[in-house]
Amino acid sequence: MITDASTLSPQSRDEDAAEVGLRPRALAEYIGQETVKANLEILIAAARQRQEAIDHILLYGAPGLGKTTLAHIIARELNCQLRVTSGPALEKPGDLAAILTNLAPGDILFIDEIHRLPRTVEEVLYPAMEDYALDIVIGKGPSAKILRLDLPRFSIIGATTRASLLSSPLRDRFGMTYHLDFYRLDDLEKIISRSAGLLGIDVDAISAKAIAACARRTPRLANRLLRRVRDYSEVKGSGVIDADICAQALSLLEIDPLGLDRIDRKILETIIDKFSGGPVGISTIAAATGEDLATIEEVYEPYLLQLGFLNRTARGREVTPRAYEHLGKIPKIEN
Ligand SMILES: Nc1ncnc2c1ncn2[C@@H]1O[C@H](COP(=O)(O)OP(=O)(O)OP(=O)(O)O)[C@@H](O)[C@H]1O
Ligand SMILES: [Mg+2]
Repeated sequence: MITDASTLSPQSRDEDAAEVGLRPRALAEYIGQETVKANLEILIAAARQRQEAIDHILLYGAPGLGKTTLAHIIARELNCQLRVTSGPALEKPGDLAAILTNLAPGDILFIDEIHRLPRTVEEVLYPAMEDYALDIVIGKGPSAKILRLDLPRFSIIGATTRASLLSSPLRDRFGMTYHLDFYRLDDLEKIISRSAGLLGIDVDAISAKAIAACARRTPRLANRLLRRVRDYSEVKGSGVIDADICAQALSLLEIDPLGLDRIDRKILETIIDKFSGGPVGISTIAAATGEDLATIEEVYEPYLLQLGFLNRTARGREVTPRAYEHLGKIPKIEN
């Protein structure tokens, strides 16, 4: 588990408990991700018409992009029960077997962080997903017998931030795989306005835009920043978020207009100042910045890559001219 105190770390944390109330409850309220939504609409309508369980669905995408939200929406749209578990919670095959045998027909089992499922548990999932059956081994040694138990028709929704860590037999058993992409800025603005409405926050259009620009294309961060800016406006202003208050709050949080925070800048500056812009290996970057390697890889790097500030090459990470420009540094001269 990655722990990181930065405001802009996309991982969920205690202060995000307010998120539950902000979750869209219907597909129509889910902002952005148009392709995924259009596909899901058909899938849901078809399952409803045939009155069948929906195909197994795999959702993957960076933290905070709305995988859990989508799983809840799918269950609600289909009017069926959603059981929730996660890869790390299922330690033994028996843990999964207990859940599966308690499912009712049409139920959806949501397995979060499915890439962290132990291999022995994963093997129970194969026949369950494919044949709706559970193979139970009775006894030990040569006299052991396999008892096959039928399961009701159910569906699995798996969510993962790391699709590449999923074994291919598991990946192949999902009928549909949807990739959630980083959000467009206008969609983030809509998300901020919607959340502001739900939380009773008064935020003007310019501020919604400024917060959206800083949110690293991630709804969770958009909502978190909105709450931080509200705190500031209540303490330092009249509670209304206008352009002025918003800019002050964001600068106090050390977040620049592209959503880079202190640690992003430290990573880029280290590569530029100590390794003449790279290429340099990620473990060297971690050592030189004093940041955790996994945190750099999963939290900071994806957004820097997305901005085109960092390139991944066979020889390591390289800072791009765009990043030099943003930081006001002079790029090295190639010779
Ligand atoms: N499309 C959307 N429209 C509006 N709000 C959204 C949308 N997607 C996500 N959110 C908001 O962002 C928050 C985070 O989403 P969610 O918990 O579903 O992310 P996740 O992908 O499951 O993250 P993790 O990988 O950390 O589990 C939600 O509580 C919701 O308020
Ligand atoms: Mg989630």
